[in-house]
Amino acid sequence: MKNFVSVHDVADIDALVQKALAYKANPFADKALGTNKRIGCLFLNPSMRTRLSTQIAAQNLGMEAIIFNVGSEGWALEFEEEAIMSGTTVEHVKDAAPIFGKYFDILAIRTFPSLKNREDDYSELYIKQFIRYAGIPVVSLESATLHPLQSLTDIITISETFIEKRKPKIVLSWAPHVKPLPQCVANSFSQWITAWGQADFVITHPEDYELSPEFTNGAMITHNQNEALKDADYVYVKNWSTFNDYGKIYESDPKWMLTNKKLELTNNARVMHCLPVRRNVELSDEILDGPNSIVTQEASNRVWAAQAVLSEILKRNG
Ligand code: CP
Repeated sequence: MKNFVSVHDVADIDALVQKALAYKANPFADKALGTNKRIGCLFLNPSMRTRLSTQIAAQNLGMEAIIFNVGSEGWALEFEEEAIMSGTTVEHVKDAAPIFGKYFDILAIRTFPSLKNREDDYSELYIKQFIRYAGIPVVSLESATLHPLQSLTDIITISETFIEKRKPKIVLSWAPHVKPLPQCVANSFSQWITAWGQADFVITHPEDYELSPEFTNGAMITHNQNEALKDADYVYVKNWSTFNDYGKIYESDPKWMLTNKKLELTNNARVMHCLPVRRNVELSDEILDGPNSIVTQEASNRVWAAQAVLSEILKRNG
């Protein structure tokens, strides 16, 4: 694995999942792998799980992890080629990234979309510019359109909890929110689950909340949430803003929030969410505090996903 920015960087999803689960069973098995290696974790946006789990994963592999909150503590970066930097940006990525490339062995970056210009966000300029100019492997800690470490975590969590000898039915269910949120987690979950190919996958959302077909890959899509939930083994709850009329909120009807009553339609489904979650807006207390929620297990698996990815990169790059 050279970089890790989407499912396309992974040759064998199941092998990576098994590697992560092996680290879960034996966290320090490869303690020597990262000796004298350093990872720089750059955050242009806030984070709790991604930041801490990546740091722990790196330390489990013997690496030093340095966190830099570029968005709040660093110089404002410019990403456009041939920019005339007479505005608010102070340093061009083509000057900064090669320096990160000298300081670190792996560069990990979190950026969010603007949600103002779809073409710009979906061009993934920020992460592509870091790949172009850093000269070292780049790991996405969430980009403008995808959150691959979250999606790997989600498949790890499904793999370790589903023991029946059949495909699980997995439903990605849109939920209300008070703010327009990126499509990253939903895009990425769809991309990984369809690439994995080991589930019956259904996406349910209100009208006008279509995701990019680039990521849904022909998944079954319905606006009827009750129909989607029927016999589901997993319900992955997530809000996203509109993709077509980009970055808007069209729907906030609380009837889209998952409740225990709706869960009765499912096959006693386990409920997932990437967190953070707005309680009683996106997901009800009764679900989050009830026996079907596996959100804490899911978040704890972020460590093993990150460790498996960093290990692959370290092994490839010596
Ligand atoms: N799920 C997730 O990425 O959480 P953080 O934003 O806290 O990192």
